[in-house]
Amino acid sequence: MTSQSAADIRPLDESAELLVDDPTWWRQAAVYQIYPRSFADASGDGIGDLRGITSRVPYLRDLGVDAVWLSPFYPSALADGGYDVDDYRDVDPRIGTLEDFDELSSVLHAAGLRLIVDLVPNHTGSGHAWFQEALAAGRGSRARERYIFREGRGEHGELPPADWESIFGGPAWTRVEDGQWYLHLFATEQPDLNWADREVHEDFLTTLRFWSDRGVDGFRVDVAHALAKDLGEELPSAAELQAMPQDGRHPLWDRDEVHEIYAEWRRVFEEYSPPRTAVAEAWVGSAERRARYASPQGLGQAFNFDLLEADFDAADYRRIVTENLAQSAQTGSSSTWVFSNHDVVRHATRYGLPPRAGRPGKQGADWVAAGGPDEGIDRELGLRRARAATLFELALPGSAYLYQGEELGLHEVAEIPDDQRQDPAFLRTTPETRSDDGLGRDGCRVPLPWARGGASFGFGEGGSHLPQPSWFADFSVEAESDDPTSTLEMYRRALHLRRELHGAETLTWDDALSDGEVLVFERTGGWVCATNFGDEEVPLPAGEVLVASGELGGSEDAAGGARVLPGATTVWLRR
Ligand code: NOJ
Repeated sequence: MTSQSAADIRPLDESAELLVDDPTWWRQAAVYQIYPRSFADASGDGIGDLRGITSRVPYLRDLGVDAVWLSPFYPSALADGGYDVDDYRDVDPRIGTLEDFDELSSVLHAAGLRLIVDLVPNHTGSGHAWFQEALAAGRGSRARERYIFREGRGEHGELPPADWESIFGGPAWTRVEDGQWYLHLFATEQPDLNWADREVHEDFLTTLRFWSDRGVDGFRVDVAHALAKDLGEELPSAAELQAMPQDGRHPLWDRDEVHEIYAEWRRVFEEYSPPRTAVAEAWVGSAERRARYASPQGLGQAFNFDLLEADFDAADYRRIVTENLAQSAQTGSSSTWVFSNHDVVRHATRYGLPPRAGRPGKQGADWVAAGGPDEGIDRELGLRRARAATLFELALPGSAYLYQGEELGLHEVAEIPDDQRQDPAFLRTTPETRSDDGLGRDGCRVPLPWARGGASFGFGEGGSHLPQPSWFADFSVEAESDDPTSTLEMYRRALHLRRELHGAETLTWDDALSDGEVLVFERTGGWVCATNFGDEEVPLPAGEVLVASGELGGSEDAAGGARVLPGATTVWLRR
């Protein structure tokens, strides 16, 4: 693998350098999520690293994305793929050094790409100095105030303070040596921080400045809706918690005062030019509640997972797009769109699951219900729909968040032996309790195939920390490059066109051409996107074809009118 330096990289296009000071860059950006341990391995130890990412910046530039979001690369025991952070202001030695980080940042910027890092403020890793101090200092100590420690119930405090379950399964309270219990909404190794403590606030402000000073352009904020908690003296039972509305006063989720934290962060973002950006991961009840996180006085943008959770259905898509565009216009944010990330079954696979109510499930429950890897999944149809969905997404106003490997049309990898799985969502559950979390999230975190063959398909020289299936060969960057029908070439073409075509953050539905199975909308400058969600072909709308997610049918006559748009296909046209 050759190493790159900032001087070797030419910008994406000549205007790239002019974008550097543009404070609106995030509004319609295509952001590419990298799961660092699984992207590219320069050191050859089987784990992806920062120098590996740097070596692939030309790939990212040529793909045509505007920014890169790095999932956690901080020192971590890897109890939850790096979302258990032991030090927020350093790099895990297996992934690199701060110097490697600086190099990556400057190479990305020289190529005209922005850099977003993941911030995990709800919990630390259990190896964090604060948690170790809290364990050693004992009950009643100042160190324990930074976390959520409680006495247990029962005669000797032997029962947890409440019967709550963690998100990954198993109890949400763990007992420490001296008998107290601490709260962890996720894995045991992820103790929840106490955001009622001022030192916690101050420390995160320091972290925001630490990375902003190093040139980071923005932050992705993990579980942004959980930081503020109000547990009171008497803890409710799990059933009572479950029954409470999430209306801003729930003890754990989406409390109104969480926005005071983000207002403080906003003041830090505004210390920089251009202001640093943020996007909230907030699984909240409604578009209205989500909009609070996206407020310009707060984080500025929030993930919208509505399309990710939707069926491949014209009416659902139209409703979701309309609602979200209206919402973001009202708040001054811009919409976001996501189909895949490191937490969900890849959309090429989800869209091939057999039809059933509620498909596709965000945590892959339906993937398991469908019999896991082999039963009843129509992979060809899944990929066809995924490509159509993505092309629809890339034509929408707002930001598109893409997950590494989706540009190759990768499917979820099912062939991971149980003893090689790493995800706590798998490890903390049994087949009986697994229905919500499926097989866990390792299947979308398998290292990328860069080459048709060789050691770990070009990921690195030293194998791969999760096993790669043989079918990766056909989905590799090498196999798909220069094949005009490949998913990779479709992404490349669409992403480059998108940069040229994006204008006002609005769209107009073409009601004459849209119907129950077909959606057609127009952006500024005569840019038209038409998607056929059905199975039967329909006439292709008039216009010059710019890119299509699959082969278009019919004849190529000059008028264009005789051509057809097959089922599960999207096309961009210029009128
Ligand atoms: C959301 C992250 O996306 C996920 O990967 C992680 O397990 C949880 N937050 C806990 O940090």
